Amino acid sequence: MPDSMSDPRLDRTAHWQAVYTSKRETEVSWFEENPTTSLRLIQDAQASRDAAIIDIGGGASRLVDALLAQGYRSPAVLDVSAAALEASRARLGARSADVDWIVADVTRWRPPRTYEIWHDRAAFHFLTEAADRNAYVERLKSTVASGGEVIIGTFALDGPEKCSGLFVQRYDAKSLADALGSSFELADHLTAAHRTPWGAIQHFQFSRFKRL
Ligand SMILES: C[S@@+](CC[C@H](N)C(=O)[O-])C[C@H]1O[C@@H](n2cnc3c(N)ncnc32)[C@H](O)[C@@H]1O
Repeated sequence: MPDSMSDPRLDRTAHWQAVYTSKRETEVSWFEENPTTSLRLIQDAQASRDAAIIDIGGGASRLVDALLAQGYRSPAVLDVSAAALEASRARLGARSADVDWIVADVTRWRPPRTYEIWHDRAAFHFLTEAADRNAYVERLKSTVASGGEVIIGTFALDGPEKCSGLFVQRYDAKSLADALGSSFELADHLTAAHRTPWGAIQHFQFSRFKRL
């Protein structure tokens, strides 16, 4: 077993724990009051309110609040940072009991069930090593059954090279489709300009795929 100083995955956990224990929700570049693009794409997937939805690398995002408010009955949020999920639980109060909170590194996670909608805003793009991307895609394939939908938002090709001090892999719809492989068919894609809490503009791409 690698020791804690050399295992990049442990470094990843430490990095994100430090972020979420030192910064407030509105002090991170990726904060958005209303996750309108994600919600639009989830709506376009036309899932029933009973559909199992998971937000991968959901952090302290307010997407889960919006999903609950819209009547989705079993949302799940996965993140490598327990502190991020704790922030969302505290914000939601009693409603947090309706959410499945999963502390895990997505590249090592062993999904206990399948999901109909997999959403990821700005987590996949941190996987700059092919082995990590492959591990992610393997989990995606085993977790989303045929007919399910996958929505992934990343920095666009003209987006920032780094986020939270870490290098990212930037995508357009085609390169993201290539990264996911032939088990996924591109159904929709768009670009979006995210305004950080301090007014900087970051270009994202969002793509929606059908699991074949
Ligand atoms: C830029 S933030 C985006 C958070 C959230 N999706 C949003 O839109 O507000 C990236 C998130 O991915 C999480 N993350 C990064 N690498 C991860 C991994 N390998 N497994 C699970 N979560 C990860 C981080 O903890 C962080 O919450």
